[in-house]
Amino acid sequence: MVKVNENFLKLPGSYLFSEVARRINAYTAVHPEAKIIKLSIGDVTRPLVPEVIKAMHAAVEEQGTIEGFHGYGPEQGYEFLREAIAQGDYAARGVDVQPGEIFVSDGAKSDCGNIGDIFGVDNVVAVCDPVYPVYVDTNAMAGRAGEYQEALGKWNRLIYMPCVEENGFSPEPPKEIPDIIYLCSPNNPTGAVISREKLKVWVDYANAHGSVILYDSAYEAFITSEDVPHTIFEIDGARTCAIEFRSFSKTAGFTGNRCAYTVVPMDLERGGVKLNTLWNRRQTTKFNGVPYVVQRGAAAIYTKEGRKQIRANIDYYRANAKVIREGLASAGLTCFGGVDAPYIWLKTPEGVGSWEFFDRILAEANVATTPGAGFGPSGEGYVRLTTFGDAEDTRTAVERVRNMFQ
Ligand code: MLT
Repeated sequence: MVKVNENFLKLPGSYLFSEVARRINAYTAVHPEAKIIKLSIGDVTRPLVPEVIKAMHAAVEEQGTIEGFHGYGPEQGYEFLREAIAQGDYAARGVDVQPGEIFVSDGAKSDCGNIGDIFGVDNVVAVCDPVYPVYVDTNAMAGRAGEYQEALGKWNRLIYMPCVEENGFSPEPPKEIPDIIYLCSPNNPTGAVISREKLKVWVDYANAHGSVILYDSAYEAFITSEDVPHTIFEIDGARTCAIEFRSFSKTAGFTGNRCAYTVVPMDLERGGVKLNTLWNRRQTTKFNGVPYVVQRGAAAIYTKEGRKQIRANIDYYRANAKVIREGLASAGLTCFGGVDAPYIWLKTPEGVGSWEFFDRILAEANVATTPGAGFGPSGEGYVRLTTFGDAEDTRTAVERVRNMFQ
């Protein structure tokens, strides 16, 4: 008889955002009149910008002609997009990333999960705590996380790097040396960032120990502080130790269109093998590329007009962040993040657990959040709010939460 992958059986409960959605649905089933405002999953609400729509329309027209029709595209992405990324996201910052090092994909979530395919199962993995659950769950599925310890809320083979108020929610290099290190800046869920100086420490640490940093910078577009790098490749030495994940989801509103990319530098080798070659082999075998129309849309954000238009959307979400931060603070609540990131990390009142607070805000304010404990043990005592909502809804949500505390 067929054997299932038993690692799946070790996973606790359901995927965090599925559980949050389940609880919201259960609440609205009993309270159909409730007008829930969702500041839970980080999904964007601003429509695609006109430049993107124009490019997509043109690409659709092309697909309807003999000369312009595109079937399977290159698995790594069309050259026009890889070139636009290399120029627009890297060369423009004085960073050398070549188109051949860029792999266009259908999402940073998929890439962060799939990257594990190129690493052995006996590697030791370090994650931040709290952490975007995809890093943990996909390593657990691959058998790299060991056993789940219910009482601790941790996997016994993972190294957890606490990111707490005391260390400014910034991970410290652990004593036990990991082979694979996941870093996320701007951080999901805390909204914290890793400074240039601190990232240099990580790069030196990884090079010294032969570790690989998996650097998720999906929220890079939200950085405003000068001393925060937009890409790990701004740091000397990163080309020999880091892989970077980027996404068009939050930058350009592509959550429903699916487009992202991963950079695997040619200089990154382990055991005499280029990881770029392995990732290329993985992608060509398991992935057939992002639709032509979507890639044309993504390339349009690198035009002068496109840049201006997506910047306006990012500013819209930034304004939401300010409304949330200031509104919650004026109600006597403590929150972090929301300056260089689209997430606000709200401390629950003394003695109130994350899930309890989630339930309370849902019932009393009809506002949905994401419980911090769902991101790891150090997330207990927090809930995460996103700034991707409609501006009017965001103001109403903040007002409702304020009323709970006044
Ligand atoms: C989140 O809410 O953390 C993100 O939207 C999830 C994702 O990007 O996969």
